Amino acid sequence: MISKKMAQALSGQINNELYSAYLYLSMSSFTTFSSLNGAANWFMVQSQEEMTHAKKFYDYLNSQGEHVQLAAIAEPPTEFGTLLSMFELTLRHEQFITKSINDLMELAVKEKEHATRIFLQWFVTEQIEEEGNNKDIIAKLKLAGDSTRGLMMVNRDLATRVFTSPTA
Ligand code: FEO
Repeated sequence: MISKKMAQALSGQINNELYSAYLYLSMSSFTTFSSLNGAANWFMVQSQEEMTHAKKFYDYLNSQGEHVQLAAIAEPPTEFGTLLSMFELTLRHEQFITKSINDLMELAVKEKEHATRIFLQWFVTEQIEEEGNNKDIIAKLKLAGDSTRGLMMVNRDLATRVFTSPTA
């Protein structure tokens, strides 16, 4: 049993995670059509991960006896700039997600929702990894600069990412 306030806030996070999945799916299509198949793979895997994040919140709410109320998902952009600007946008988006997780954690502490606090801990750790991965890719793309060969090397690197379903 969790408070209505907590349940509503967690439902809102389902929307944030589904929007993230939508955003990265759109980025995957854009990079496919920019002949950057490695990056397209990376964004597709990222999109799949976001779906599992949404499902974690959904499963948690159900387990707490909450009927999940789903809201409309906003339309993501369809046009993007360079690969560097795309990863800078990804980092900014993940920083927004980190803030939303931190806000949920603050509410859980304030409302003495200890089970929810423990549930959210996984996401706190996940966000450290997500931001770190993005910063690494941004650093590599900055090193590549205007070099097509450098960009292709990063693209090859991004092609190796494989989706593995995260376990709590
Ligand atoms: Fe679900 Fe990228 O955070």
